[in-house]
Amino acid sequence: MHDGHIIIGNWKMNLDAFASRALADELRKKLAGIRLAPNLEVVVCPSYDALASVGEALSGSALQLGAQDVFWQEKGAYTGEISASMLAALGVRLVIVGHSERRTHLHETDELVNMKVKAALSQGMTPVLCVGETYDERRIGHTELILMRQVVEGLKGITLGPDNKLVIAYEPVWVIGTGQAIDPAQAERAIQVIRQSLIDLYPPATIATQIRVIYGGSVDPGNIANYTTIPGIRGVLVGAASIHAENFIKLLASFT
Ligand code: 13P
Repeated sequence: MHDGHIIIGNWKMNLDAFASRALADELRKKLAGIRLAPNLEVVVCPSYDALASVGEALSGSALQLGAQDVFWQEKGAYTGEISASMLAALGVRLVIVGHSERRTHLHETDELVNMKVKAALSQGMTPVLCVGETYDERRIGHTELILMRQVVEGLKGITLGPDNKLVIAYEPVWVIGTGQAIDPAQAERAIQVIRQSLIDLYPPATIATQIRVIYGGSVDPGNIANYTTIPGIRGVLVGAASIHAENFIKLLASFT
């Protein structure tokens, strides 16, 4: 049973291995001075090159290690790719899948994303399935259609075992990295659509205890509460505000 929120820092391709380690060390030190809200889960997702070192720095702390992507095959001739078992070997507990930046720049389709969700689950890791509409899709009234499609296709054929957890991150593509988060009412509506799609796929008890729906897109210490106080939103996925220790700690502190 989970009844707390989750906050996930996505460091994207912003910090090299040394800067990532320094941030992890700083977070760990600063965290010692604050009391986290009970049941608050905190995850940071450095780039692949920094996973081992950041994992070492966070070992034994309240921060968990996540990854920004995963390949769907387990092993073999897949030059440049990293499998779920390789991530698991480094202590990775959660993996972001289908981020809009990958859908855009790497042309990831719902089908590929679906295979990645399966790969993560097969290693007992929590997939964070990212969904969200572009500005043009919203403008022509396709937001709900896109969200339903990305959820249903991304989770096609996926049953959750009793120990599996899943996070769906609603990230409207047009507000990511803009510093201008979405109107909370629009976020709430989108989250309702996602939850409705989930109801068609999983029993209510599974949704209540194993699946979290969270918001991402220009979350910062000043606006985080606008989202985390919406009942259907169980956490946040944070980019820019997660790569400065001070800001990230403020985000965590907003839950106390
Ligand atoms: P920003 O918080 O920088 O808008 O990034 C959001 C995001 O894409 C997290 O995955």
